[in-house]
Amino acid sequence: MNRPIVALDEALRPVPMPVRRHMDIIDRLLEGHGKLRGTLAFLTVLIDRPSGIGWDDRATADRKLFARALDRFFTEFKAHEAMEDAYLTRVLRQAGMDPALSAAIEEGHRAVMEMTKLFGAVAASGDGEHVYRLRTVLSRLCEELEAHMVYEENVVFPELRARLPAGLLRELGRRARTVPA
Ligand SMILES: [Fe+2]
Ligand SMILES: [Fe+2]
Repeated sequence: MNRPIVALDEALRPVPMPVRRHMDIIDRLLEGHGKLRGTLAFLTVLIDRPSGIGWDDRATADRKLFARALDRFFTEFKAHEAMEDAYLTRVLRQAGMDPALSAAIEEGHRAVMEMTKLFGAVAASGDGEHVYRLRTVLSRLCEELEAHMVYEENVVFPELRARLPAGLLRELGRRARTVPA
């Protein structure tokens, strides 16, 4: 029974605070990814399947809350896409990096936006019944978005960090503050 006490001791130990620095463009884009993941997770919870209910269950979610969250996702995604168009794909091209990187980003944005529109259309035509359709499209949207963001995080961002000077990445992060992430 010692383990919980040890864990508590660990949890209470003061953690050294990291030195605060200006967010560079990659930090800002990662912050945007966090928001998008959070909003989709919230939408998923709102229409999650109550236990014991079958394929034709009704949505129990507050529909106004759902509509607001969907609206928020649209706004966040468009703002994130605008930031990447201005400060990521353009920079990749100007830095002479492999054109396949920016082409893959643009293709990912198209795929996510198409799926988002489909999700919006299914949500708008819904009457609160047969929510399984909505869940299916939402789960596809989550997969598309996750695959796109993981590609950026694992391939594009490390490439950018390796190729561009830290000062330039910070300057881009400072300029990007004018665009909501
Ligand atoms: Fe993107
Ligand atoms: Fe992104």
